[in-house]
Amino acid sequence: MASKTDKRSATYNQLESGTERSRPILHQNAREIQPYGKIAKLPIALDEKVCAASAENLNQVLADTITLRDLYKKHHWQVAGHTFYQLHLLFDKHHNEQDELVDTIAERIQSLGAISLAMAADIAETSIIPRPPRGREEVPAQISRLLEAHELLLKEARTMARQAAEAGDDGTNDVLVSDVIRTNELQVWFLAEHLVDVPVVRADEAKAASSGG
Ligand SMILES: [Fe+2]
Repeated sequence: MASKTDKRSATYNQLESGTERSRPILHQNAREIQPYGKIAKLPIALDEKVCAASAENLNQVLADTITLRDLYKKHHWQVAGHTFYQLHLLFDKHHNEQDELVDTIAERIQSLGAISLAMAADIAETSIIPRPPRGREEVPAQISRLLEAHELLLKEARTMARQAAEAGDDGTNDVLVSDVIRTNELQVWFLAEHLVDVPVVRADEAKAASSGG
């Protein structure tokens, strides 16, 4: 007489039979279909060398944008002091805008037939933005750090935008100017105004009188 266990495994076998084609094939490995740094040419009427040069520049901007995006999240979490609520929200808004830029830049790289960087270790190796301490910084130091990162990004983006325009890669030039440069310049304005040392409650009347104002 068949045991209970035998009966159960017979039932399982019945349940599995006929499902071979719909079972997921797990633990697969294969060679890369495109090595990093190589161009899989697409019909976009741009020379392969132009695509490669633009992709290399864009990957630098991508690594720095991902780093700046993450710096905003760090500050969003770690901000302290009486402007906590305002800066907590502002840092997150800028984080989200940088995150949109990340996708725009990465997809531009893919549109050029190249491969965009993606993973944290590769970003850390590539970015030129100085690594912040793990600990918490005061608000003025947080804002200064962000402004310096923005300026590094803006400087490289402007140079690369000019290079793209000269090479005839108008799409890359447009991403760098319309998206990267414009967004970063606007964010710099919103941040930098927080470092202007003006009275919060009482206007400085003594200074106004002595300057004849
Ligand atoms: Fe949050």
